[in-house]
Amino acid sequence: MHHPYQIRSLEQYHTDYKRSIEDSEGFWSNIAEQFVWKKKWDKVLQWNFNEPRVRWFEGAQLNITENCIDRHLADKGDQPAIIWEPNDPSDRTRVVTYNILHKRVCQFAQVLINNGVKKGDRVCIYMGMVPELAYAVLGCARIGAIHSVIFGGFSAQSIADRLADAKAEFIITCDGAYRGAKDIPLKSVIDDALVGNTTVKRVIVYTRTRTPVSMIKGRDVWWEEEMEHAALQLEQAGSVHVPAVAMEAEDPLFILYTSGSTGKPKGVVHSSAGYMLWTNYTFINVFQYQPGQVHFCTADIGWITGHSYILYGPLSAGATSVMFEGIPTWPDAGRFWDIVDKYKVNILYTAPTAIRSLMGFGMQPLEGKELSSLQVLGTVGEPINEEAWHWYDEHIGKKRCPIVDTWWQTETGGVLISNLAGITPAKAAWATLPLPGVQPMLVDENGKQVTERDEQGLIKGNLCIKTPWPSILRTTYGDHERCRQNYFATYENLYFTGDGALQDEQGNFRITGRVDDVLNVSGHRIGTAEVENAINAHAGVVESAVVGYPHDIKGQGIYAYVIVSHFHQDAEQTRKDILQTVTRVIGPIAKPDKIQFVSGLPKTRSGKIMRRILRKIAEGETSNLGDTTTLLDPGVVEEILKGV
Ligand code: WT7
Repeated sequence: MHHPYQIRSLEQYHTDYKRSIEDSEGFWSNIAEQFVWKKKWDKVLQWNFNEPRVRWFEGAQLNITENCIDRHLADKGDQPAIIWEPNDPSDRTRVVTYNILHKRVCQFAQVLINNGVKKGDRVCIYMGMVPELAYAVLGCARIGAIHSVIFGGFSAQSIADRLADAKAEFIITCDGAYRGAKDIPLKSVIDDALVGNTTVKRVIVYTRTRTPVSMIKGRDVWWEEEMEHAALQLEQAGSVHVPAVAMEAEDPLFILYTSGSTGKPKGVVHSSAGYMLWTNYTFINVFQYQPGQVHFCTADIGWITGHSYILYGPLSAGATSVMFEGIPTWPDAGRFWDIVDKYKVNILYTAPTAIRSLMGFGMQPLEGKELSSLQVLGTVGEPINEEAWHWYDEHIGKKRCPIVDTWWQTETGGVLISNLAGITPAKAAWATLPLPGVQPMLVDENGKQVTERDEQGLIKGNLCIKTPWPSILRTTYGDHERCRQNYFATYENLYFTGDGALQDEQGNFRITGRVDDVLNVSGHRIGTAEVENAINAHAGVVESAVVGYPHDIKGQGIYAYVIVSHFHQDAEQTRKDILQTVTRVIGPIAKPDKIQFVSGLPKTRSGKIMRRILRKIAEGETSNLGDTTTLLDPGVVEEILKGV
């Protein structure tokens, strides 16, 4: 039996797409009927992009956890909801059925209540990939607290910034996290982030690594003790069930911080109803999920991909979702393939970076791996090159599995442009067609729609979306004007994605990459300005300029041009110091791959750094640097070229 709103043929894709545009309210309300509501909506959609103001299913009340958990209990209570694979393959697997998930999420919701967490409060979650992270996220959603998950690779300073921005009073963390051969001391990072903090009232600490931690009296409590206490309480009350709080359709579900081209990361806010509908609809349609299938999304829940396609999408569809604690290359580069065979994974969703990195290990890690359970493959996070696409197709999918190239963003909540597995045609390295309800448009710098085609019949422009889909971001936390400026002010009446794209004569889209000062390193978004600020924090640095350059595995690498006033000891030591500083300020993920010390930066007469030139040099270009006549001092370029 297929889901009632699953698109089952190319023809149906076209009719559904057409209907979603011509009768958008009718189309989405039909789909919304299939969810559990505490109260139905008065109006399907109200919007304008000027404020911006987008409201889907106004007047409705719901709780996403009833849709992700409770509604499956009657017929899927004993089916695994989450299968957890530990970092160390010889450790015990944990299978969390929907019944267990219900019990644990309720229990943790009670813990939150006991600790004074209320609807609308912001709860920061900084944990490794353990099932308790899922309980924490869903426990927040159950009582209407707004979760903000922070990836384990961010530094204490980054956490402190996010805590302050979200005005969070609660933190859930672990003593430590295992990632391959490394232990990350999460609680100690939290302690550093909380030095001088006066707003955080409670830190709940789950024991994973048994790394010694210091607990602060009156502030820090143990997860295990709190859970035990809640269990007793619920037992006395005679039920494991904790009621799910009624959320307004537009109540915020979570905040997730992401980098932009300027300033500190912004808190992207997602709604309850629209986000639920979209993650569910796209999960079922893009991957063509069939009941009983095992889905393995290799992302970390610290990123949007994990939120939408490890937790909310699969769970709302009643699927079995594999959650992996470790990394693809430990204990060896065959780890993903072992997991696929061990749990008979049917849908594998990963990033081009992972594919390229595993490709680099050759065929040996694939020896003895069956991979026969695989039916659908997916990629996300960055443009996939044709070589990686074909390797994935031949060696992993054995040419039997459709590959979906899913384009989307933290701000979009779920996939907007992708082929539908086995239903709409794939095209290597192309994201292809928009999902129903999504109206992409390519514009020039002035916001004018581009219609001219080049010799190859392609339209080239900046990718915008004309109308709101259900899971479009609603605001950036605490600063609505920033949301407007960033996404809705560049081009009138359009959502601007920040990406460049091509469109072919069949209407397929190929995303070519960011057109703003945002880098995509291993599928992670990093702002150049953020990295520059971190580098500039080093006492010896006068000024810096950061650009991206093509990197064989990471997609983009980080190239920093740095002017120093004096070397701390020597150039090598200063280089190390700068890397340390970036690690302290942002985290190891933002460390530059290359640092070049220069005595000046190419600037225009008005003092603007000409990044175009720096980008070319970083790409290895030495001659065609374009127009340099507007430079204040063209000699600077010569000098930089000499130092490459
Ligand atoms: C940026 C969003 C979407 C979840 C993971 C990243 C790039 C994403 C693709 C794709 C080409 C892609 C875009 C986008 N991107 N998917 N299939 N093909 N580029 O989320 O950190 O918000 O980054 O990732 O540049 O704007 P994110």
